[in-house]
Amino acid sequence: MTSANTAVWEGDKADRADKPQWGSRAGFVMAAIGSAVGLGNLWRFPFQAGENGGGAFVLIYIAFVVLIGLPVLIAELAIGRHKGLLPVGSTREIAVEAGRSPNWQIAGWIGLAGGVIVLPSYTMLSGQIMAYSVMGFMGDLSDPNKTPLYDGPVPTLLWFTAFIAITTGIVLRGLKRGIEFASVLLMPAFFVILAGLAAFALYSGAASDALTYLFAPRFNQLTPEIVLAALGQALFSLGVGAGLMITFGSFLSKDENIGSNATVIAGADTLVALVAGLMIFPIVFAFGMDPAAGMGLIFGTLPSFFAQMPFGNLIGGLFFFLAFIAALTSSIAILMVARTIGIQQFGFSERNATLFFALLTWVGGFGIVFIDGFGSLLD
Ligand code: ALA
Repeated sequence: MTSANTAVWEGDKADRADKPQWGSRAGFVMAAIGSAVGLGNLWRFPFQAGENGGGAFVLIYIAFVVLIGLPVLIAELAIGRHKGLLPVGSTREIAVEAGRSPNWQIAGWIGLAGGVIVLPSYTMLSGQIMAYSVMGFMGDLSDPNKTPLYDGPVPTLLWFTAFIAITTGIVLRGLKRGIEFASVLLMPAFFVILAGLAAFALYSGAASDALTYLFAPRFNQLTPEIVLAALGQALFSLGVGAGLMITFGSFLSKDENIGSNATVIAGADTLVALVAGLMIFPIVFAFGMDPAAGMGLIFGTLPSFFAQMPFGNLIGGLFFFLAFIAALTSSIAILMVARTIGIQQFGFSERNATLFFALLTWVGGFGIVFIDGFGSLLD
């Protein structure tokens, strides 16, 4: 993708031959799974399910994925591919084509705004995850003297800055050499590490407690709020409603079968969420941690337990590296889509739009940390 054809791509001439396209089906599917599979799957889903009815939550979640998430995913890919435009252009042009108001483009704007809003906190958390992964691989999880290199206001901001720099660098490389290349490289590694860690946790941890906590249905715990939370989690996890899949669809060739690709994407996303629970809870129960402490366990007690396990630094490093891959592939996709506001509204080149929104994310992250008083975001 060059900045020279950006204006044309987003403009009226959607049929232009040099409109960017995915290099391969596998590249598209890996990038879409990478964008969907994120911290929402690895941490948010297991703790939400465990705390809110176990198997009952899981059943409702799966029903929402099949009945609402998957159809919306298919629709978004089709909307993007139909006009080959970015989210705002696609929603506007399709409405106009159907004789409806161009104001339908507001749907596109809302999705993009969601990405801009979520990026600072998402990347802040991701920077800390990267720090903990390095901490494990360096063998520092068990060394309290090394903690100041990874924790605290200044290190947190430095790791956050490094994470944004990596994300931005990949987005700047364009569609095929950036997000597609990174996803094809990283997602297979992600699946191997996830399967390995889940097998290890089930084998050496408290497997039956974990299975009961996550899958035994406790219907008496369900409330309308929990049902709504399951819907929100399903949509957030699939990455629908955020302009992501419209953008991904705009790069799709007319020969691709959207239904089967979307089913693979939604299936993989759901499977990862379930397996993530099987990876986390056997460890949580084996060490007698309270699962109700929620996601705070991840940066709080869990690393200190890793430090006490045989090969704990390596396992801890892999655990956080897994989350790093999930966070990176999602952040790349969100930044790639959020920047389209700059491209379509202000006529920025792709490069300048990427740099502008990366800077905005960075400033937003600093704001969060200062307002938040350094740290409660990470608890
Ligand atoms: N869909 C991504 C996640 O689950 C953003 O984290």
